[in-house]
Amino acid sequence: MAIAPLRWSEKSLLLLDQRLLPAEEKWLTLTTWQEVESAIRDMAIRGAPAIGVAAAYGMALAAQAGEDRAIADQGLRNSRPTAVNLFWALDRIATVSQWSREKILAEAQAIEQEDLEMNHKIAQFGAELVPNGARILTICNTGSLATAGHGTALGIIRTAYTQGKVAHVYSCETRPRQQGLRLTAWELLHDKIPFHSIADSAAASLMRQGKVDFVVAGADRITANGDTANKIGTDMLATLAHTHKIPFVIAAPSSTIDPSLSDGSLIPIEERESSELTEIEGVRVAPENCPVWNPAFDVTPADLISAIVTEKGVFRAPYGFL
Ligand code: MRU
Repeated sequence: MAIAPLRWSEKSLLLLDQRLLPAEEKWLTLTTWQEVESAIRDMAIRGAPAIGVAAAYGMALAAQAGEDRAIADQGLRNSRPTAVNLFWALDRIATVSQWSREKILAEAQAIEQEDLEMNHKIAQFGAELVPNGARILTICNTGSLATAGHGTALGIIRTAYTQGKVAHVYSCETRPRQQGLRLTAWELLHDKIPFHSIADSAAASLMRQGKVDFVVAGADRITANGDTANKIGTDMLATLAHTHKIPFVIAAPSSTIDPSLSDGSLIPIEERESSELTEIEGVRVAPENCPVWNPAFDVTPADLISAIVTEKGVFRAPYGFL
């Protein structure tokens, strides 16, 4: 059965709590936009496109409850700052003139359906770039859990695998929240794609040993010049791939492109609480009062990116998004 991070059910939004995966598959039942805002902020749902879809459904819950539209919109916008898909989805909901459950829900469902369709197109375009017998390195979770289904970077891996092109996947653990180890590993096992999880710090060694042919990652925001914000550690992989002359590809729907920003230095980068680093499963491992810097994302400069794949095709520098 296909994996999905959320589904609408009559009057509520059901959401698979990604904080508990893979140990527990627990579905949350959300009935207010405030609960959706908390679920995004606390990362019960995460991944740029999935955040956008969830926020759209949050607005449907607000309309259903007859809540103030502007307050709900602003509240959801405040949940996480980096993934532009959140703002893109809320902007789309804002174009719906009628503040009714029926109309807002229909738009949220359209956003979800379109994201799924975009992912399948990205996967087709992206799979063409994958060499035969490829050993692919990826980071974070960019799969069904991070989107309306199939995934972006992981969607390319899925499709290329069904085409017989993928020999092996290496999935970065993705410290500090371990989206790679917990979520991507879960999805790869589900699809029976051969892989190894690696510590993020093993990537250089893996590449130096000649065991990586292709690197693919997702995106949270792509600026007009092609600079790309994605999970912290992505820039490191791009820099390594450049050194080892390995193609480094970004995959994202056009809802991830922010043409209003000229370059990546303008992207707001979320910094999260220090406990993500100082604690493991709630157990403190760092000394008390240990100072921590914990950015959730970094920006990979466009000149380290071999290609950006969207549902519209494969783009290379200079990026003509505008
Ligand atoms: O902090 P997260 O888990 O929301 O970060 C997710 C990522 O960085 C993904 O790579 C990105 O959102 C693309 S998901 C298709």
